Amino acid sequence: MAGRIPPQFIDDLLARTDIVELIAGRIQLRKGGKDYQARCPFHDEKSPSFTVSREKQFYHCFGCGAHGTAIGFLMEYDRLGFREAIEDLARRAGLEVPTEGTATPTGPDQTPLYALLEQAAQVYRRQLREHPEAPQAIDYLKGRGLSGEIAARYGLGFAPSGWDFLLASLGADPAARERLSQAGLITEQDGKRYDRFRSRIMFPIRDRRGRVIGFGGRVLGDGKPKYLNSPETPVFHKGRELYGLYEVQQARRKLTRLLVVEGYLDVIALAQFGIDYAVATLGTATTLEHLQVLLRSAPELVFCFDGDNAGRGAAWKALETILPLATGNQSLRFLFLPEGEDPDTLVRAEGQAAFERRLGSATPLSEVFFDHLSGQVDMVSRDGRARLVTLAKPLISKVPDGIYRDMLEGRLAALAGIEPRRAARAGARRGGDRLLARPARPTRVALAIALLLDHPELAPVALAQEDDWRRCEGPGVEILAQLVDAVSAYPAINKATLIERWRDHPHFDYLQRLSVAPFLDDIPVEGLAAELTGALQGLGKDVRDSERLRPLNRRSTADWSDEVREQMDREAEQARTRRR
Ligand code: UTP
Ligand code: MN
Repeated sequence: MAGRIPPQFIDDLLARTDIVELIAGRIQLRKGGKDYQARCPFHDEKSPSFTVSREKQFYHCFGCGAHGTAIGFLMEYDRLGFREAIEDLARRAGLEVPTEGTATPTGPDQTPLYALLEQAAQVYRRQLREHPEAPQAIDYLKGRGLSGEIAARYGLGFAPSGWDFLLASLGADPAARERLSQAGLITEQDGKRYDRFRSRIMFPIRDRRGRVIGFGGRVLGDGKPKYLNSPETPVFHKGRELYGLYEVQQARRKLTRLLVVEGYLDVIALAQFGIDYAVATLGTATTLEHLQVLLRSAPELVFCFDGDNAGRGAAWKALETILPLATGNQSLRFLFLPEGEDPDTLVRAEGQAAFERRLGSATPLSEVFFDHLSGQVDMVSRDGRARLVTLAKPLISKVPDGIYRDMLEGRLAALAGIEPRRAARAGARRGGDRLLARPARPTRVALAIALLLDHPELAPVALAQEDDWRRCEGPGVEILAQLVDAVSAYPAINKATLIERWRDHPHFDYLQRLSVAPFLDDIPVEGLAAELTGALQGLGKDVRDSERLRPLNRRSTADWSDEVREQMDREAEQARTRRR
């Protein structure tokens, strides 16, 4: 791992990069007005709705909503990691990427290991066609309903029986044997080396760049263990990799939905039935690293679990892991399967359309959350509902500040506060999270942030306002304040440079999306300054109002003036009458 890249370098790099040139090197752009247009590379379309702005150094597709900076484009289009994208841009600009703090060495060169794993995958693939034992393997795959085409797409292979097939094929000299051992392809016992995988269907596991990093191997029948996997090696870390992600990304450039399942064969069977957007964890629970990758890959995630107790337990674990990453920008849902079924058996039994209908009605995360907790308390009693709050609060506090957390808190208040029968019904309602897909009216903070990102030239307008709004405690105000400071310090800053400063922030995606929010199009250019003024003044007024009322709320009732006390009594009485 290399050290952190200094933010100043990223600013510099973006200043020397032209997003128009960068994208024009990959797809054909046509000038239209002051921007450039093209058919979107991220979704299929007939007429161009992909726009690149030289002024803002930002791209945006009005068709599918894809958007980002030059760095974001490389990450999406070339499927690079953040650091790789920076390195690529730096090479183009003739700069060297500096690192901050303790620049740890980059580690040994793993190229030979990758090459060996690729060779092994080829050897296994060839055996599936040529080895005398291949017919058994082919029959097994056919018996599971898989076509040759799907087997080829996933690079399936066959490890023949015998102790040293691979060893003999690829272990010509001691160095090669050492490497086979490092790659986890051979094991050693009592000083003897032999093949790890024997008489198994081989599933190569690829990283997101398509490099083979390990294997899963399945017995042909009922033997044990059913699956054998590569051990952890310098290039293979189970808790980080997702089986099938590379293949999914090959099949579809722009992912709208990812389905997360448990097994290799679930992924492949789903693809066989046209559901070519499933990935699998590798026999481990869903980790934070998995989730980070998943959230970056698609706007909608559906996690598939068994409907039994074990499945529900695993779903709850995944849910707890995802809370610190749940911003409400993605749709996160859970699909519980009927007992005894897995995605493979189910899709084969009922076909693509029926399976996709199940996906369509999967349960939103928030509902699984409240169902699970409500099930642990007595929702009919007041104590039970108080207990619900005690259980839910620490979990909700893990969710990043923002609309999603507000929504969970609101739902908790409703469940804990309202009549028990209504609470039960509210718990059974479906589809609440879909409301979050596109907030209809932006909050004042969101509006101000969006305006400043899209029009940094409005900085003086923001600075001309009273500073009261900065004391506001709502979500996003801190970002807004940083943003105003950034645009006033560098009046010529563009959207791309601004946005990149928040890449590591939990709300980075939300910020990017805000800066191309559809409501911006509804504001005429001459009205922009007035909108920003209105938003900041509105926030300021809220702050002053709440500060005026706060002393009243803090002091004990004994200190209240008679007038206030009378008013409170009247309100309490009215509330009582309403309840009767
Ligand atoms: P399952 O046993 O549910 O696999 O294990 P599956 O895909 O349904 O298997 P088939 O349909 O019988 O072929 C799910 C995943 O757990 C891991 C594998 O990653 C597997 O895909 N696993 C399972 C192991 O690592 N070892 C095992 O012995 C079993
Ligand atoms: Mn199965």
